[in-house]
Order: sequence, then structure tokens, then C-alpha cells
Amino acid sequence: MQIPALKSVTVEVLVDNFFDVFEPSRPGVVERVVPGRLKKPLVAAHGLAFWITLEKDGATSRLLLDAANSPLPLMNNIEALEHNLEEVDAVVLSHGHPDHYGGLVEILSRRQGKLPVYFHKDCYHPKLLITPRGRIGPWKLDREALVQGGAEMHENSGPALVLDQVLLTGTVEASTPYETPLPGPKRVIAGVEENDPFTDEQALVAHVQGQGLVILGGCSHPGIVNMVKYAQKLTGVQEIAAIIGGFHLTAGGPDLIRSTIQGLKELNPKILLAGHCTGFKALTQLALAFPDTFMVSCVGTKVMIGG
Ligand SMILES: [Fe+2]
Ligand SMILES: [Fe+2]
Repeated sequence: MQIPALKSVTVEVLVDNFFDVFEPSRPGVVERVVPGRLKKPLVAAHGLAFWITLEKDGATSRLLLDAANSPLPLMNNIEALEHNLEEVDAVVLSHGHPDHYGGLVEILSRRQGKLPVYFHKDCYHPKLLITPRGRIGPWKLDREALVQGGAEMHENSGPALVLDQVLLTGTVEASTPYETPLPGPKRVIAGVEENDPFTDEQALVAHVQGQGLVILGGCSHPGIVNMVKYAQKLTGVQEIAAIIGGFHLTAGGPDLIRSTIQGLKELNPKILLAGHCTGFKALTQLALAFPDTFMVSCVGTKVMIGG
């Protein structure tokens, strides 16, 4: 599937689990914020949202990938980073967990007119988690609230283009033997709970001229290596400029962390920005395994590819 080559892609972390003022920048490629220069403090929270700027043929488009866990961190950080929601051309949901769509209705309420919202049709299945501390959920994406709020719904199941510029992979094709569904996350189909196969989670993929693919995952429940390999297969582009997102690894245990690190080494990304649900143990091992490419995804971090 041919996807257009963009001049540049900039990914700014609006909401993530982390903020660390001592995390280094990489000048011209990864910039961190200086908190004292912001008009208000940033808030870190268990959720994810990215502000993405695409440049192609002299035109600029703006996308949100995910909408955090609630309006509180999302609206606070949009204000702190001085973004204007009226400039957003579309919202993409990575998957149907509420720490990725919790602020979406609020976004719609603060804008004029319709806003295209892209997501997998399986995001509507109720979701829950079985954890050592008990059951959490179920949650369900509220279609009615989105439509009434002014969402222009774009539901897919297979590969789809967003704004004719970036690719949503659709349900991720598994190709590694080690990235298999974990026992904790469940979904409900016709009243019956089952292990969640995460058919609803998809990667957002941009192709930057002369740089390669920029691949964004929300929680990467289908496995970040599966997601990157599938993006390569769909686009025919092998070079990986950046892999960004939550990788959900610590919950899978040490074998999954080790195998995923080996898989990521074979993919050879130039930038690896991980945060959110990756988990502290996995983050520390990624930092050791990729001393030159790994960086922690903190709120306010901006990754600039191309341009
Ligand atoms: Fe998540
Ligand atoms: Fe998730």
C-alpha cells in the first residue's frame, strides 16, 4: 500500500505518565520543555495523547493521537503548551481503552463544527482488566456521546489513510512468536468475557521523505515489534526513523522484555521514545540496551523527523 512521503512529522507528547526535568534533549531531533518558561505547569497522568504536525507540499496538518485518560491533564497541557484545538484536523484513537479516549468528548465540546475521529470499529466492545488488586471496568466507548459532540466518525478494520497522509494499520497481523495476548485485559462480546485479542489496536504510521517510517503505538497490546513489522509490510518501507508510544512490556514479564528488545534491535530504529504503559523495569532495560537511541517519553517532549 503506497502512502505519501511527507516532508516532516513532529510528535509532541501532550499527556504521558512521566515528567523528568533531567531527561536530556537531542538538539534538533528531540527537544524537552523548560518548565520555568511555560505559562503553567504540565501534568503527567496515566494516559496518552500526542499532538502531531504533518508537513506535505507546503501545507501543514495537525492530528491528535489519543485523548488521555480525562480532560484534566489533557486540557491543562494543551493550554500550557499553547496549542489551539481549533487547529486540529482529526483525532485518531489507538485502541478502545479509556486512558486513551477519556478527554475526547471534552475536545469535541470545545470546538466549533465537525471533527473527523478515526478508530477501529472493535473499540466499541466493553473492556475490563483483571489485576492483582481486583477487577477494573468495564468501560465502553460511548458512540452516542461522540456523534452528539460533533465527531465525524471514521471506523475501520483494515488499513486506512487518515487525511490522505498517514496510515492506520487496521488490526495488526502477528508475526512474532513471543507477542501473545496477556491474561489481564478482557473484552466482552455478546455478554461473554474473553481474553482481549486487541483486534481494535492499530499503529499510526507516517513515511517521512529520506528518513523512513515514524510508527506510533498507544499501548501496543498486539506487540510493538508486530506493529512495526506490519507497518513495514503494508508500506514496503523498511527504514525506521522512530518508534514512539507505550509498549506495555513490564506486565508481560522478563522473557517478553528480553525478546522485544532483541526484536527492536533487528528493526534498528533511529529513535525509540517509550513511556506510558511500558513499565519502569522495561524502560530501564530499554535504556541499557539502546544507549544512543532510547529516550523516555515525558510530557512536553517534541520529536522532529525531517524538515
Ligand atoms: Fe494505555
Ligand atoms: Fe491499553
